Amino acid sequence: MCGIAGYVGARPAAPILLDSLQRLEYRGYDSCGIAVLGDAGVFVRRSVSPISEFRNEVLPAAPEGTIGLAHTRWATHGRADLANAHPLVSCDGKILVVHNGVLENAFELRDRLIAQGHRFTSETDSETIPHLLEQALAEGRTMDEAVAKLPEQLVGSYAIVAMREGHDELYLLRSGSPLVVGIGDGEYFPASDIPSFLPYAQRVIYLHENDPFAVGRKGIRRLGSGGTAAEAVPPLPQPVSLNVESVSKGSFEHFMIKEIMEQVAAIARLTDAPPPSLATAAELMRGASSVKFVGAGTSYHAGLFGQFLMGTLLHTDSEACVSSEFEFRADTLRPGSVVIAMSQSGETADTLQAVRFARDRGARVIGLVNSESSSLTRAADVVIPLRSGPELSVAATKSYTSQLVALNLLVEHLAADPTGVARTILQARDSLYELTSDSARSYMASLAHSLARHNHLLLIGRGGHYVTALEAALKIKEVAGFASQAFPGGEMKHGPLALVGEGSPVILFYDRSQLARAELAASELGTRGAAIYTVGPQPLRSSSLHIRVNDAGVATPIAQIVPMQLLAYELAKLRQLDPDHPRNLAKSVTVL
Ligand code: F6R
Repeated sequence: MCGIAGYVGARPAAPILLDSLQRLEYRGYDSCGIAVLGDAGVFVRRSVSPISEFRNEVLPAAPEGTIGLAHTRWATHGRADLANAHPLVSCDGKILVVHNGVLENAFELRDRLIAQGHRFTSETDSETIPHLLEQALAEGRTMDEAVAKLPEQLVGSYAIVAMREGHDELYLLRSGSPLVVGIGDGEYFPASDIPSFLPYAQRVIYLHENDPFAVGRKGIRRLGSGGTAAEAVPPLPQPVSLNVESVSKGSFEHFMIKEIMEQVAAIARLTDAPPPSLATAAELMRGASSVKFVGAGTSYHAGLFGQFLMGTLLHTDSEACVSSEFEFRADTLRPGSVVIAMSQSGETADTLQAVRFARDRGARVIGLVNSESSSLTRAADVVIPLRSGPELSVAATKSYTSQLVALNLLVEHLAADPTGVARTILQARDSLYELTSDSARSYMASLAHSLARHNHLLLIGRGGHYVTALEAALKIKEVAGFASQAFPGGEMKHGPLALVGEGSPVILFYDRSQLARAELAASELGTRGAAIYTVGPQPLRSSSLHIRVNDAGVATPIAQIVPMQLLAYELAKLRQLDPDHPRNLAKSVTVL
């Protein structure tokens, strides 16, 4: 949610910042902006155009200055227009700030600053920051002191990069929102995350909460350290393990299709060398008084799959909760409870809050997380890494299938028949070769064509297949903007059948053990005129189009979702939407 980037070094800042911004676009793309300190003062440009267009406009005009900052926005406070685009500036235009997060006391701060004579030009909460810094300077503080004072003044979440005209350093502060610093050779790249500076820096510093720093050509220094040498030492740089290929599209048109196609390899990384922490996590679960899965969006669906696996394979009760609803279930936790927090980014604010609720009640936390440098990694007692590699398309694809595989592997440790579980995982993995082939892709493109003239889609399944229906509906909704709803198979006759009429498209998911019931459901729908598309090991009598997915026992949902990801992608393209950047969404939702 919002991407921020900075640069200070010996090279012109603008090309690097614009390049970094493109790699941060998945975090939000409502508007963007850049500021560079040049010989003639501060150069600032903002835009509501896509970053690629913005880049072409700005590059020829930008000065050669070697210090600057940039922002790509996902709007929360204030509309997605030019006035609210970052960088935001102080009244005198000399302090420039980019911010990611949400300030809960913004209205109160704004009223106070206006009473002190500050003039606001945007509706954003973020604009309070340059004015607070300006006010502190007016009261006689140094810039270091002004930045170090912000944690006392701001309530909420923030990652901030600030710059001041006439000063050759960038000021950095974070709390509750991510901010890391790429370390190059005499160059620094503060950014929301690592992919943004990957071509330029191979070492990174993870900033701690409310631990302010300044970076300049002479190095990095801690602010407000009280002056002792030990306190002034910055956190140790760590090597970056990603490579540039993993964050570029390569020959693919979009990240989404690249990431769908990467699933075989991603799953193989997990199955070929299962993380050793699975055993520790299984041990925690073995002695647990209760188990809850928490996650948002797709990660919640993975949690539902975890609940399904525990019920069917371990005959054990558990509960999957949407992270943002967890506060209403948290009081059922006891010391001895285990919470399994699921997240691709490891930065979803709702999920991190659920983890805090769990910790406050003495529960142990297992984190199933893709981004290993994330807040969830630090907050969990045991981390199971998903190892699916950077996922840059906003829609989760490979991280979802990796979540399902990791859950299967976890359950394998606890199951009475671990060999049986292992076999189903491999069966599901093997069917992914065919499901990600070119012919599978063109088959799903033809299904997309036949669906495109409709405006509503129903998806139906039972047990683990209901989870697939939910996830497929979310993918199709978010990527293709297509109204799609999922129902458990048995629920149709309790109301949703009212939605079915002549030609209504319905997708049905099932496996061999459910064939008879699927036939029944299909005939119930067929007699009401539905066009039935089936996803299973063999077609049903009333299938108008069938997508074959081989049975892999309880692990079948790992494979079943893949054609649906392709369908969402092809539908988006047919509707001339950008699959990587769905409307009103951001990859990592770091606000509550
Ligand atoms: C769906 C999607 C979102 C995320 C959700 C949680 O395609 O991408 O629904 O699944 O925002 O994100 P993480 O997994 O990063 O916590």
